Amino acid sequence: MADLSVDICNIKFKNPIIPASGVFGYGREYEEFYPLSELGGIATKGTTAKKRTGNLSPRIAETTAGMLNSVGLQNPGVDYFIQHELPYLLTKNTVILANIAGSTPEECAEVAEKLDSTDVHMIELNISCPNVKQGGAAFGTSCTMAEQVTSAVRKATAKPLVVKLSPNVTSITEIAKAVEFAGADAVSLINTLLGMRIDIHTKRPVLKNNVGGLSGAGIFPVAVRMVWQTANAVKIPVIGMGGVTSGEDAIELMMAGASAVQVGMAVFTDPYAPVKIIQQMQNFLEENHISSVKEIIGSVQPW
Ligand SMILES: Cc1cc2nc3c(=O)[nH]c(=O)nc-3n(C[C@H](O)[C@H](O)[C@H](O)COP(=O)(O)O)c2cc1C
Repeated sequence: MADLSVDICNIKFKNPIIPASGVFGYGREYEEFYPLSELGGIATKGTTAKKRTGNLSPRIAETTAGMLNSVGLQNPGVDYFIQHELPYLLTKNTVILANIAGSTPEECAEVAEKLDSTDVHMIELNISCPNVKQGGAAFGTSCTMAEQVTSAVRKATAKPLVVKLSPNVTSITEIAKAVEFAGADAVSLINTLLGMRIDIHTKRPVLKNNVGGLSGAGIFPVAVRMVWQTANAVKIPVIGMGGVTSGEDAIELMMAGASAVQVGMAVFTDPYAPVKIIQQMQNFLEENHISSVKEIIGSVQPW
């Protein structure tokens, strides 16, 4: 059997596959399909300081090779998460990444500080949500703001800090370098690409929020490009995601430089997607006589 384990920020993942934040809730709905311990890790739904009800519906729209969402960080708040969801997740023998967000650097720091006194393994700071009016994408599209929010959270926690970047920028490498400078231990990317659909019969945008985040297979080449550029620009590990639907996609993203891979929208079309992807990666490594998945990280040979 090829070794699928990877290490990120001194944390061992039994395999590199992690369901992405926002598509897997807190794992409960998926446990009827397979033991959560089969997963490398789980990134939980974005948690804010207080409960949020999210945006008005409709907040999902189909696209040719993916979907648009404008959920807007609906969540029960960090206190509820710590009391009711985290204890359950921590019994599952998999790495838990608590995804956090906020409208201000202070709010993000408050959430991180509360999580710091729990046993959660990692904090993933989302500076890239396109669906909230304050904070969200604004943090992830300016180097100064990205640095400010990362540094505020860095001061609030000693946990390994992964900063999740927005693809809606001119230069992903500048933002990645800014958060590395501010103390991030790793970066994850990409979040959704800002998009829009219009109902041509009513002339109304399909989403009540008018615009939303595009995810799914259609964004995969953008993710590969941005992971590759980022991995070449920073020294900290990169966790890749965006449109991954197969083990081959995950291998490709790792060749681009990702140390682990998150799987988002694919779990909506097939709840078994993460475990199938793990098996497909295993098959690829064995067929190609590669003993450890670590060997393929960043192994692309650019022209
Ligand atoms: C319905 C939905 C909700 C999401 N919620 C969050 C969230 O709360 N926090 C976050 O960092 N990313 C969130 N994301 C972004 C995903 O984690 C991921 O970055 C993005 O969808 C790209 O990956 P994919 O193409 O594999 O879905 C959400 C995505 C979807 C589709």
